[in-house]
Amino acid sequence: MGYGPAQIPLKTRREIEIMREVGRHVAEILLEVRKRVRPGIATAELNRIAEEEIKRRGVQSSFKGYGPHGLPKYPAVICISVNEEIVHGIPGPRVLKEGDIVGFDFGVHQNGMHGDSAVTVGVGEICEEASRLLTTTRDALYLAIEKARVGNRLSDIGHVVQSKAEGSGYSVVRDFVGHGIGHKLHEPPQIPNYGDPGKGPRLRAGMALAIEPMVNAGVAGVEVLKDGWTAVTEDRKLSAHFEHTILITDEGPEILTKVEGSH
Ligand code: MF3
Ligand code: CO
Repeated sequence: MGYGPAQIPLKTRREIEIMREVGRHVAEILLEVRKRVRPGIATAELNRIAEEEIKRRGVQSSFKGYGPHGLPKYPAVICISVNEEIVHGIPGPRVLKEGDIVGFDFGVHQNGMHGDSAVTVGVGEICEEASRLLTTTRDALYLAIEKARVGNRLSDIGHVVQSKAEGSGYSVVRDFVGHGIGHKLHEPPQIPNYGDPGKGPRLRAGMALAIEPMVNAGVAGVEVLKDGWTAVTEDRKLSAHFEHTILITDEGPEILTKVEGSH
C-alpha cells in the first residue's frame, strides 16, 4: 500500500474533542438499535430507529448517499448484514428470526468529523458455532486495538487479526479493509485484516483508525449481490464483523466508539 506516515493525518486537540463526541453518538445509537433486536423485527425498522436517533441528536449520517465508486448510492443510514452477509447489507423487509446473527455497521459525522463502528449480535438464542464466531471476531478486534500503539507498525494490526481468525479455524475477508478516519469517513491508511507483521508506516499519536475485522466461518471469498452493495460469503456460511474507531495516544489506544454496554 505504501503510505508514508506523512499521508496519515494526525488529529489536532480540537479535532480529537469532536471525534470523542461523535464516537459517543455512534456508540449510543448502536446500543439503541441493538436493544430493539428480536425475532420478528424487520431490518428496515431498525434503520428507522437509527434514523430517528440521528435526527434527535442533530448529527449527520456518514453512510446515506455514500458511493464514490459509480455504483448506486448507499440508501440507508446503517448497514445491516444477516448471517452469510458480510458487510453492506441494505435494510429492508427482511425479518430477523431466532438463531440469526446480525451485523450493524454505523457511522455519523458532526462538525466535520466522522465516527464509525460495527457489531454483530445474535437474535434470541444462537448455536454454539455462531457464538464462537462472534467471540473470536470481537477478540480479534481487541487484539488489533492493542497493537494500535505508538512505535508499532501498521501491518501489526492486520497480522494479529489474521492469526486470531485462522488460528480459530476461520478465514479473514480480504476484499474490504479498515481505514483511517477523521474529516472523511475513509482516509489513509487502508488497514487490511491480514499480512506479515512489522511492515508499513510506524503508528503515531494522533492517528485515528477504524479497525474492522470481518471473519468468515468458511472460505474467505466474497460475492456482491445484484443490489450492488450486499457482500456475502461465497460458500454462504456465516460471517461476523466488529469495528471501532480508535485514537492512538501516547498512553495507548483510546476507543472513541465505546460507552458502557458497548461491544
Ligand atoms: N463501515 C463501513 C466502512 O467503513 C461502511 C461504509 S459503507 C456505506 O467502509 F456505504 F454504508 F457507507
Ligand atoms: Co469502517
